[in-house]
Amino acid sequence: MEKTNTPLMSQYYKIKSQYPDQILFFRMGDFYEMFGEDAKIASRILGIALTSRSHGKSERVPLAGVPYHAAERYISLLLKAGKKVVVCEQVEDPKTAKGLVKREVVELITPGTITIDSLFDSDEKNFLASLVGDGQNFGLATLDLSTGEFKVEEGFLDRIKEKLNTIRPKEIIIPQRFSEEKKIGFENFKNHAALTFLDDFKFDYDLAYQTITDHFKTTSLDGFGISDLKLGISAAGSIISYLEQTKKTYLSHINKITKTSYDECMFLDFSTLRNLEIFSPFSPTDEKDFTSKKNSLFHILNKTKTPMGSRLLKEWLRSPLYHVEKIKKRQDSVSELLGKRDKTVDLAKILDRIQDTERLAGKLGYGKANPKDLVALAMSLRNVPEIKEVLKGFNSSLLNCIKENLPDTSFIVDLVEKSMVDDPPSVLTEGGIIKKGYKGELDRLKESIKTSRNWIASLQKEERQRTKIPSLKVGFNRVFGYYIEVTKTHLSKVPEDYIRKQTLVNAERFITEELKKKEEIILGAEEKIFELEHYLFLEIRSLVSKKIEDIQKTSEYLATLDVLLSFKEAASSYRYVRPEIDSSDEVIIEEGRHPVLEHLVEKGYVPNDTTMNSEEKIHIITGPNMAGKSTYLRQVGLIVLLAQAGSFVPAKKAKIGLVDRIFTRVGALDNIATGKSTFLVEMNETANILNNATSKSFILLDEIGRGTSTFDGLSIAWAATEYIHSHPRLCSRTLVATHFHELTELARLLPRVKNYQIKVKEWGDEIIFLRKIVPGGCDDSFGIYVAKLAGVPREVLERAKEILLKLEGEELSYKNVPRPEGFTKEKSYQLSIFSARDNQIAQELKKIDINKLTPLEALNKLEELKKKAEE
Ligand SMILES: Nc1ncnc2c1ncn2[C@@H]1O[C@H](COP(=O)(O)OP(=O)(O)OP(=O)(O)O)[C@@H](O)[C@H]1O
Ligand SMILES: [Mg+2]
Repeated sequence: MEKTNTPLMSQYYKIKSQYPDQILFFRMGDFYEMFGEDAKIASRILGIALTSRSHGKSERVPLAGVPYHAAERYISLLLKAGKKVVVCEQVEDPKTAKGLVKREVVELITPGTITIDSLFDSDEKNFLASLVGDGQNFGLATLDLSTGEFKVEEGFLDRIKEKLNTIRPKEIIIPQRFSEEKKIGFENFKNHAALTFLDDFKFDYDLAYQTITDHFKTTSLDGFGISDLKLGISAAGSIISYLEQTKKTYLSHINKITKTSYDECMFLDFSTLRNLEIFSPFSPTDEKDFTSKKNSLFHILNKTKTPMGSRLLKEWLRSPLYHVEKIKKRQDSVSELLGKRDKTVDLAKILDRIQDTERLAGKLGYGKANPKDLVALAMSLRNVPEIKEVLKGFNSSLLNCIKENLPDTSFIVDLVEKSMVDDPPSVLTEGGIIKKGYKGELDRLKESIKTSRNWIASLQKEERQRTKIPSLKVGFNRVFGYYIEVTKTHLSKVPEDYIRKQTLVNAERFITEELKKKEEIILGAEEKIFELEHYLFLEIRSLVSKKIEDIQKTSEYLATLDVLLSFKEAASSYRYVRPEIDSSDEVIIEEGRHPVLEHLVEKGYVPNDTTMNSEEKIHIITGPNMAGKSTYLRQVGLIVLLAQAGSFVPAKKAKIGLVDRIFTRVGALDNIATGKSTFLVEMNETANILNNATSKSFILLDEIGRGTSTFDGLSIAWAATEYIHSHPRLCSRTLVATHFHELTELARLLPRVKNYQIKVKEWGDEIIFLRKIVPGGCDDSFGIYVAKLAGVPREVLERAKEILLKLEGEELSYKNVPRPEGFTKEKSYQLSIFSARDNQIAQELKKIDINKLTPLEALNKLEELKKKAEE
């Protein structure tokens, strides 16, 4: 049956057909309306009423609407629910339109391309990523539309995925052909990013090259130093064309593209960032609890004053430096700031007055800066000369560089200050923006209004006298304009020249010829004023936009200064020291502390020493439950990380030989979302470490092998430690925390392994945690004691003690088989812990040359052995 649509619905369907997968916000007067399926989906997500509207002869279409001024909030909810929103506006004035008002799509809003302030987290970048690969290599481009930061890189799939994991883009663009390829494993990103599949041709190299050069208005990409990144260029080109598709037409803040290089950075993968609790606490149950973010390294360290400063601090922590000189430069500045405290107070105060100039530059770039933004920008930039002035007293190279290179932005400050009022509205079209004295024509218009307004102001008094109606009122409303109001009781006194306009319950409203004339003058002038102010504002904005690069540079320098000041502030308030940095194999820490935990433990944090060097590269750390092993491991990792980020560190003294990457295998965390078992996750991480670590890496292994049976676990921990110690590529500095006391035997067998234990003192039936790390191994776990602390019932504790005694008395062993003859604790390192009937397996184990096995082969072998053992 043929549908007879109303013209409006025909217009709607025509537009909707181009955006079948998005929610279409269709502007009708003061509302955005959604129809059909869109209305049903939106009403469910937004909790708004679903009604229906008749269209054509009989059918009714589901309908839901939101007021235009509240649209941002609704759009953000839809985006959070994984939807994309298309905004369709009325592009002509309904008053003057002939027939149906023309409508056009003005923007497609997706998680990676939002330009709505309230949707940005001021601490976070908002990345849109694009990815393309040839099977071997992958190209990755990332864009933060809010600031214009645009970068490309290439690498193997694993590396690129790791990168995506750490930067957490809001949206990832992928060629259509990858949608079927399960092995690439993009499904995992769905949890935190929207996946957008684009036609394959959008990633075509030649097209991409053209798109990018068109955007930058250059003839080649040589000037950006990315010409050799073919896949990177394909990815970057697709980003630009996607922006065009989403109707982002003004993008003057995206004025360069840079290649990401890892040569001078320490690499931290996502699991390390998580395990060391850099940005949020480890416990997954806490992840939703926003307030608990405060127990992260970032939270403790963040003393920045500006949003771009706090974003930069995140970046410095996410990728610390791997370059002695560069680290020293940051340290020099922090030292200098510490030495001149009175001046740094000034700097902090000035920075406190500066708003997010980096994102304001972005808003200018994509054409959305409103009058309030421009004033905020100018007010912020006004502080720059003062910063330069204070910095005159500083000489360290970074601070000097900031002082010398901070651009002169006085043009913007002067222009805005002379043209715009101090507190303008955020709307562009209702006046109230331009200052008196900036434009003669505008002042004259405003003056002409004034005379008429004064006349109207005195009208009430005069008319009351003339008519003898004491309650007569002169008023104004948007629909009827100016009026004279007379209550019903006085209607008989109304003079002849009053013209009736509106009847209310208790009163009548009138106008007079003269009042009408004055009103026309006022309204006519007002319209002209609005238009002129709008025009003048756009003019000012376009002049300011020409200086976007200067604003971006200023923001960059201010952010650097802000982070250095934040390091200084942390150093002085938390008593941090400047670590010595070189390229040796040493990690020497005197009285080191855990930067986060030291603020949380009630009884006072116990500092600990660390000495690692080329003779002592692997430390096996034993100690009872709750002793502080995991804390110690993290403490050392965090100190290394802080030192290479350029910060001072929580210790009395420290010396750090450069580390290229910190690896962590910490605790056991189920990754239910990806359907992997605890043990598989643990082994994945272990394999990653064994395959990728170098002699410059720093490895933290906390309870490796805990996720499986004791004997499997011990074998794996043993083999992995041996492998790290003896493999020529590795020999990495490593801290191993373990409950397998057998591992301490390794110190006797391998030259660079040393044992440490965290001391406790026994006091009758109780134990006292001393939290002190000392050389030597420890054999007791005190697990039962900790169980008691945790409130396990007494009967269970008693029974556990009984069993423990029996086990120690060698009555029982693995699977209740009597212990093999000759088993003693001393000999256990030879793995004679296996029962007699497992001797054959032990023989097989002996034959294995661990140095020649890949981790995967090791896993397979292990599985084979395990099966045999279980037969
Ligand atoms: N140096 C220290 N100073 C003060 N308190 C500490 C110190 N180290 C650890 N603690 C406290 O001890 C608690 C337990 O520490 P941690 O988790 O590191 O022990 P563990 O040895 O790893 O235990 P388990 O063997 O059960 O994993 C910490 O949460 C902290 O409260
Ligand atoms: Mg632990």
